[in-house]
Amino acid sequence: MSLPASGENEIPSCHGGLENLDSEYDYDLLEMEGSIPADIKGTFFRNGPGRQKIGSTAYGHWFDGDGMLCAFTFNEGRAHFRNRYVRTPKYLDETAAQKVLYRGFGTQIEGGLFANLFKMPANPANTSGIYHGGHLLALNEGGKPWALKPGSLETLGEFTYEGELEPSMVFSAHGKVHPSTGDYINYGAGISGFGLKGPKPCINMYRINSAGKLFRKGQIPLENFPFCHDFALSDKYAIFFLGSIVFGNMLPVILGSRTISEQVRFDDDIAMQIVVVDLNTFKEVKRFETTPGAIIHFGNAFEQGDEVIVDGMFQDNFEANDTLADVFNKTGRFGGGWYRRYRLNMKTGDLHTEQISDVESEFPTFNNEFLGTKNNVTYTACSVDNGANSFFNAISRVSFDGQADVVTLPPGFYGSEPLFVPKSNAKKEDDGYLMEVVYNGFEHNSELLIFRADDISDQVCSLKLKHHVPHQFHGFYTPEVFA
Ligand SMILES: [Fe+2]
Repeated sequence: MSLPASGENEIPSCHGGLENLDSEYDYDLLEMEGSIPADIKGTFFRNGPGRQKIGSTAYGHWFDGDGMLCAFTFNEGRAHFRNRYVRTPKYLDETAAQKVLYRGFGTQIEGGLFANLFKMPANPANTSGIYHGGHLLALNEGGKPWALKPGSLETLGEFTYEGELEPSMVFSAHGKVHPSTGDYINYGAGISGFGLKGPKPCINMYRINSAGKLFRKGQIPLENFPFCHDFALSDKYAIFFLGSIVFGNMLPVILGSRTISEQVRFDDDIAMQIVVVDLNTFKEVKRFETTPGAIIHFGNAFEQGDEVIVDGMFQDNFEANDTLADVFNKTGRFGGGWYRRYRLNMKTGDLHTEQISDVESEFPTFNNEFLGTKNNVTYTACSVDNGANSFFNAISRVSFDGQADVVTLPPGFYGSEPLFVPKSNAKKEDDGYLMEVVYNGFEHNSELLIFRADDISDQVCSLKLKHHVPHQFHGFYTPEVFA
């Protein structure tokens, strides 16, 4: 990292890292500290909102910025960077008009109630991605996947698995690849029909084989519409935590007077329901109930004896939404949750919870080869007090027994979700590297840091970009190198 010269004592906050990156680039990464490990061969993808403003107007929520894919390609000790926006109708139309034309999760179209009446939020394709079954997809839970060419990142179009995703079906940003079959399991909030009380909520589930064919669908009936951003996957089960973040009355949203973000709230009278679904039948097989709270993102899950063990980041409020709805407010702070482990006894119905780490953390990741089976190491993005913690500013490596090694960035540098990248000849769980895009608030540019995964105090390389990368949500790694 390039530290500021002494005397520069004003520490920048994270907010410069939310400014637009309107340009699209394509270049070899030649400026670096350290050297690129020769045993990395593959592509590290990231997705997130590349712009938070259109014209002079800021969107009304971080979730509403337009999706921009970044691809870092590694081959024979060299690295290449490319970024492209996903050409959704929202991106294309708003780029041409230079003003807000679509509603979002927290964004309204200028013009009041009548401009927003009966208009649904647009899909910005900005949350995560997956390369599976030969398809590179940009994902957002409010809509369908968007397909891109994996090499050029050129947008191919909205993607429905040959019509299997029906018009009303949405597809979450947090699908997972089931390791023993290679199937991709995903889901989306939906409606199973209409009853006396109106629409009947459900979770739609999807199973896609490694050839990219969606071959199984199912519906899990629910009492209320879920705020269900992520789920956990073990070998036999999909596990959903339906927490205390709930949707209030949606009528004002439909009528155009309020946004979804304004109607979402944390209700600490609502217990968290844990719904366990059999992956072969897509039927609920067990339900647990625990104290109020919410899990936004999950780590690994696996079966051990009669228990299913699930790691997740626990929140006991949703105050973060105020920050997310006003991202340029410099008093805002993007915080995390608390790493918890749940032990669900499928035989007795007992549930035990323990806090694994006392470091404020989010974005738990691990070696995906171990998804659904017992793993020993989880990595997280952390917020620690280094004098500048308006955003994630550290990473941790947490072993299964709760031992946490934390590496803190210098004040004024802000991190993101750290992701494990296996060496091309990996033999064991942490035989690889941890990659993290870091924003340098002093120079308003970004770099890709590469750490040894088994010892994150050892930074082996920092690759300098020619510009900043706006703070992103999620990424993934594939050993494929695309032409
Ligand atoms: Fe997420």
